[in-house]
Parts: sequence; C-alpha cells; structure tokens
Amino acid sequence: MNGSPPSELDTQIITKNLSFIYESAYKENRGEIDSLLKEKGPSFKDDPKLDKFKALNSIDLSILKGKFIAMVGDTGSGKSTLVRTFNGLIPSFYRGIFFGYVNVLGKDTIQEKVSALSQHVGLVFQNPDNQLVAMTVEREIAFGLENLGMEQSQIREKLTQIMEYLKITHLKDRHPYDLSGGEKQRVAIASILTLEPSVIILDEPTATLDPQAAQSVLNLLKKLNEENKITIIIIEHRLEVILPFCNEIIVMNQGNVLEHGPTQQVLLSSSLQKTGVRIPEYIQMFLQLREKAKYSGTIPTNIDQAVLKLKEWLN
Ligand SMILES: Nc1ncnc2c1ncn2[C@@H]1O[C@H](COP(=O)(O)OP(=O)(O)OP(=O)(O)O)[C@@H](O)[C@H]1O
Ligand SMILES: [Mg+2]
Repeated sequence: MNGSPPSELDTQIITKNLSFIYESAYKENRGEIDSLLKEKGPSFKDDPKLDKFKALNSIDLSILKGKFIAMVGDTGSGKSTLVRTFNGLIPSFYRGIFFGYVNVLGKDTIQEKVSALSQHVGLVFQNPDNQLVAMTVEREIAFGLENLGMEQSQIREKLTQIMEYLKITHLKDRHPYDLSGGEKQRVAIASILTLEPSVIILDEPTATLDPQAAQSVLNLLKKLNEENKITIIIIEHRLEVILPFCNEIIVMNQGNVLEHGPTQQVLLSSSLQKTGVRIPEYIQMFLQLREKAKYSGTIPTNIDQAVLKLKEWLN
C-alpha cells in the first residue's frame, strides 16, 4: 500500500460497527435479548452479553477497488454471513437484528434492492447447483441479460464474447446439471459476468473441485482481476490454495475481523495463529527463521517460491 489515504472512489465496500443476530438465534434466546433491550434501551447493541448471539460483531471494514482478497477463518466465524451483507441478502432475505452500516459503491445497502446491488456485487456459492436454473448453459448465461431487458442482438454478442473469454463455448448446449464441478463454477461466474459487476465474491468456490479444476477457476479469477479490474473476494479456509493468488487477507474470528491487510503483513502478524486456520509448513518454517533473526526477507506464498528462497538463503 502506498502512503496516501484511499479516496472515497477507490473504496467499494465499507462497513461500520456492523453486527448481526440471525432471527433463529433471537427466537431461541428471546427472553434474554428482550430483557437486555428493556434494561439498556438503544445502547443494548454494545452490551458484551449480546456477543454470544451475534454472527457478526462490530465489524469495521474497508475494501478497495481492484484487490484480490482471501477471507479465512474457522468454521462458524461469520465469513458467509459477512459477505451476505455485501449484496443486501442480509438483512433482506436472511432476517434478524441488523446493527450498523454497510455501504457498497456509495450506496447504503439497507436502502437498495438486492436485485440492484447484485448487479454490482456478484455472489457465487460453493455449490453452483443452487444457482443454475436454466435448461442449457447458453440460456443460463443469457438469463441475467434478459432480465435487464437487453436487446436480442446485443445479448447474442455479449454471450459469444463471455463464453469465449471463459472458454466454455463448447458447453453452450449442455444442461448445467450435467457439467463437472469446475465447469459449473465457470458457468456460474459467466452468468454473473454478464452484469459487469465491480466485485465478485465466491464462497468456497473450489471446495468440491479437484486440485486441477480449482487452479483453473482461480487462474480465471486472477485474469478477471488483473485484466478487468474486478475486485475479487474469496472465502477459502485452505490458505495454501489461495495464497498464490491473493494480495490481501481478511482473518475472521468469532464474528470479528481479527485482521485485514496485505498478504505479507497478515502472514507476519500473529492473527492467523489465533484461529484454527492451518498455516502451510513452508510458511511456518520461514516464520521460525525470521523469529530467530536468521531470515529477513518476505514470506513465500507458494512452494516453488519457498524452494527458491531457501536455496538463496543457504548460499
Ligand atoms: N441461516 C442461518 N440462520 C441462523 N444462523 C446461522 C445461519 N447461517 C449461519 N448461522 C450462524 O452464524 C454463525 C456464523 O456462521 P457462518 O455461516 O457465517 O460462518 P462461516 O465462517 O461461513 O463458517 P463455514 O466455514 O463453516 O462456512 C454461526 O454460528 C452459524 O451457526
Ligand atoms: Mg461459510
């Protein structure tokens, strides 16, 4: 990061004091929550006694344009919940008690329709089956454009362009359900791309893919990030899978953002160690060398880099 503060225009997502209690958690503990509310009035949201019910707890975050961000954290730490606030799914579809403020591309999400926000912030789920609705890949990708009311000739042109870019033209007449996991992810990404989003968020997109398909989806996302300047946020608990691609990391822990910063800064801090996220052995080794003041360079983010750095260090 350079020294000058980011301008408002570069900031795509801002959250301030964001907390959320799912409706089911409220219903199960209504007595306790209501009595806190009665006792404390409007300031009850800050009472630490509420923390155990919150899926998100006082999150302040600022996400800048063009970043490739990995969001990591233990199961249940609030990763999926947090990204659901970025396109308004929370609190529009997932009900509950919502405190604080989320601003996406200059708009307060509470005042925007999910359909409007979704054009700018695309969300891809772990299992794209839930997202694919049409009978053919081509229809699937055209769906969003038709909803926007685009003319048929324009739709054709855009479809051809996107399918070529994502190398899925040969799949155009196939049924989305009959595709492999990696192909399904590509189709889900393609249908989101038609809307020309500024941000694409993927919730564990490679969890069910074999390593080769996972690499190919991540390479595609890197290309969209670098060539089209689309901000990418990927939830991924396997650090070794995402490290070669990301330039920032958000570490979530018990509904909080423990740290958000450039990859090197986060690797060198102790926040990852406070979570159950597994730190690859080659990274642990370089961290130990640094601790013993035997190494002062950057921490490698993939095995090949680690081998090179180790060779340099030995010489
Ligand atoms: N739809 C829901 N209704 C009620 N509670 C929920 C819902 N989704 C998540 N939660 C709860 O909110 C908390 C945060 O869950 P969330 O799914 O955001 O975590 P996560 O970090 O994405 O976990 P994982 O890595 O397992 O996907 C958990 O306590 C979870 O049980
Ligand atoms: Mg999740």
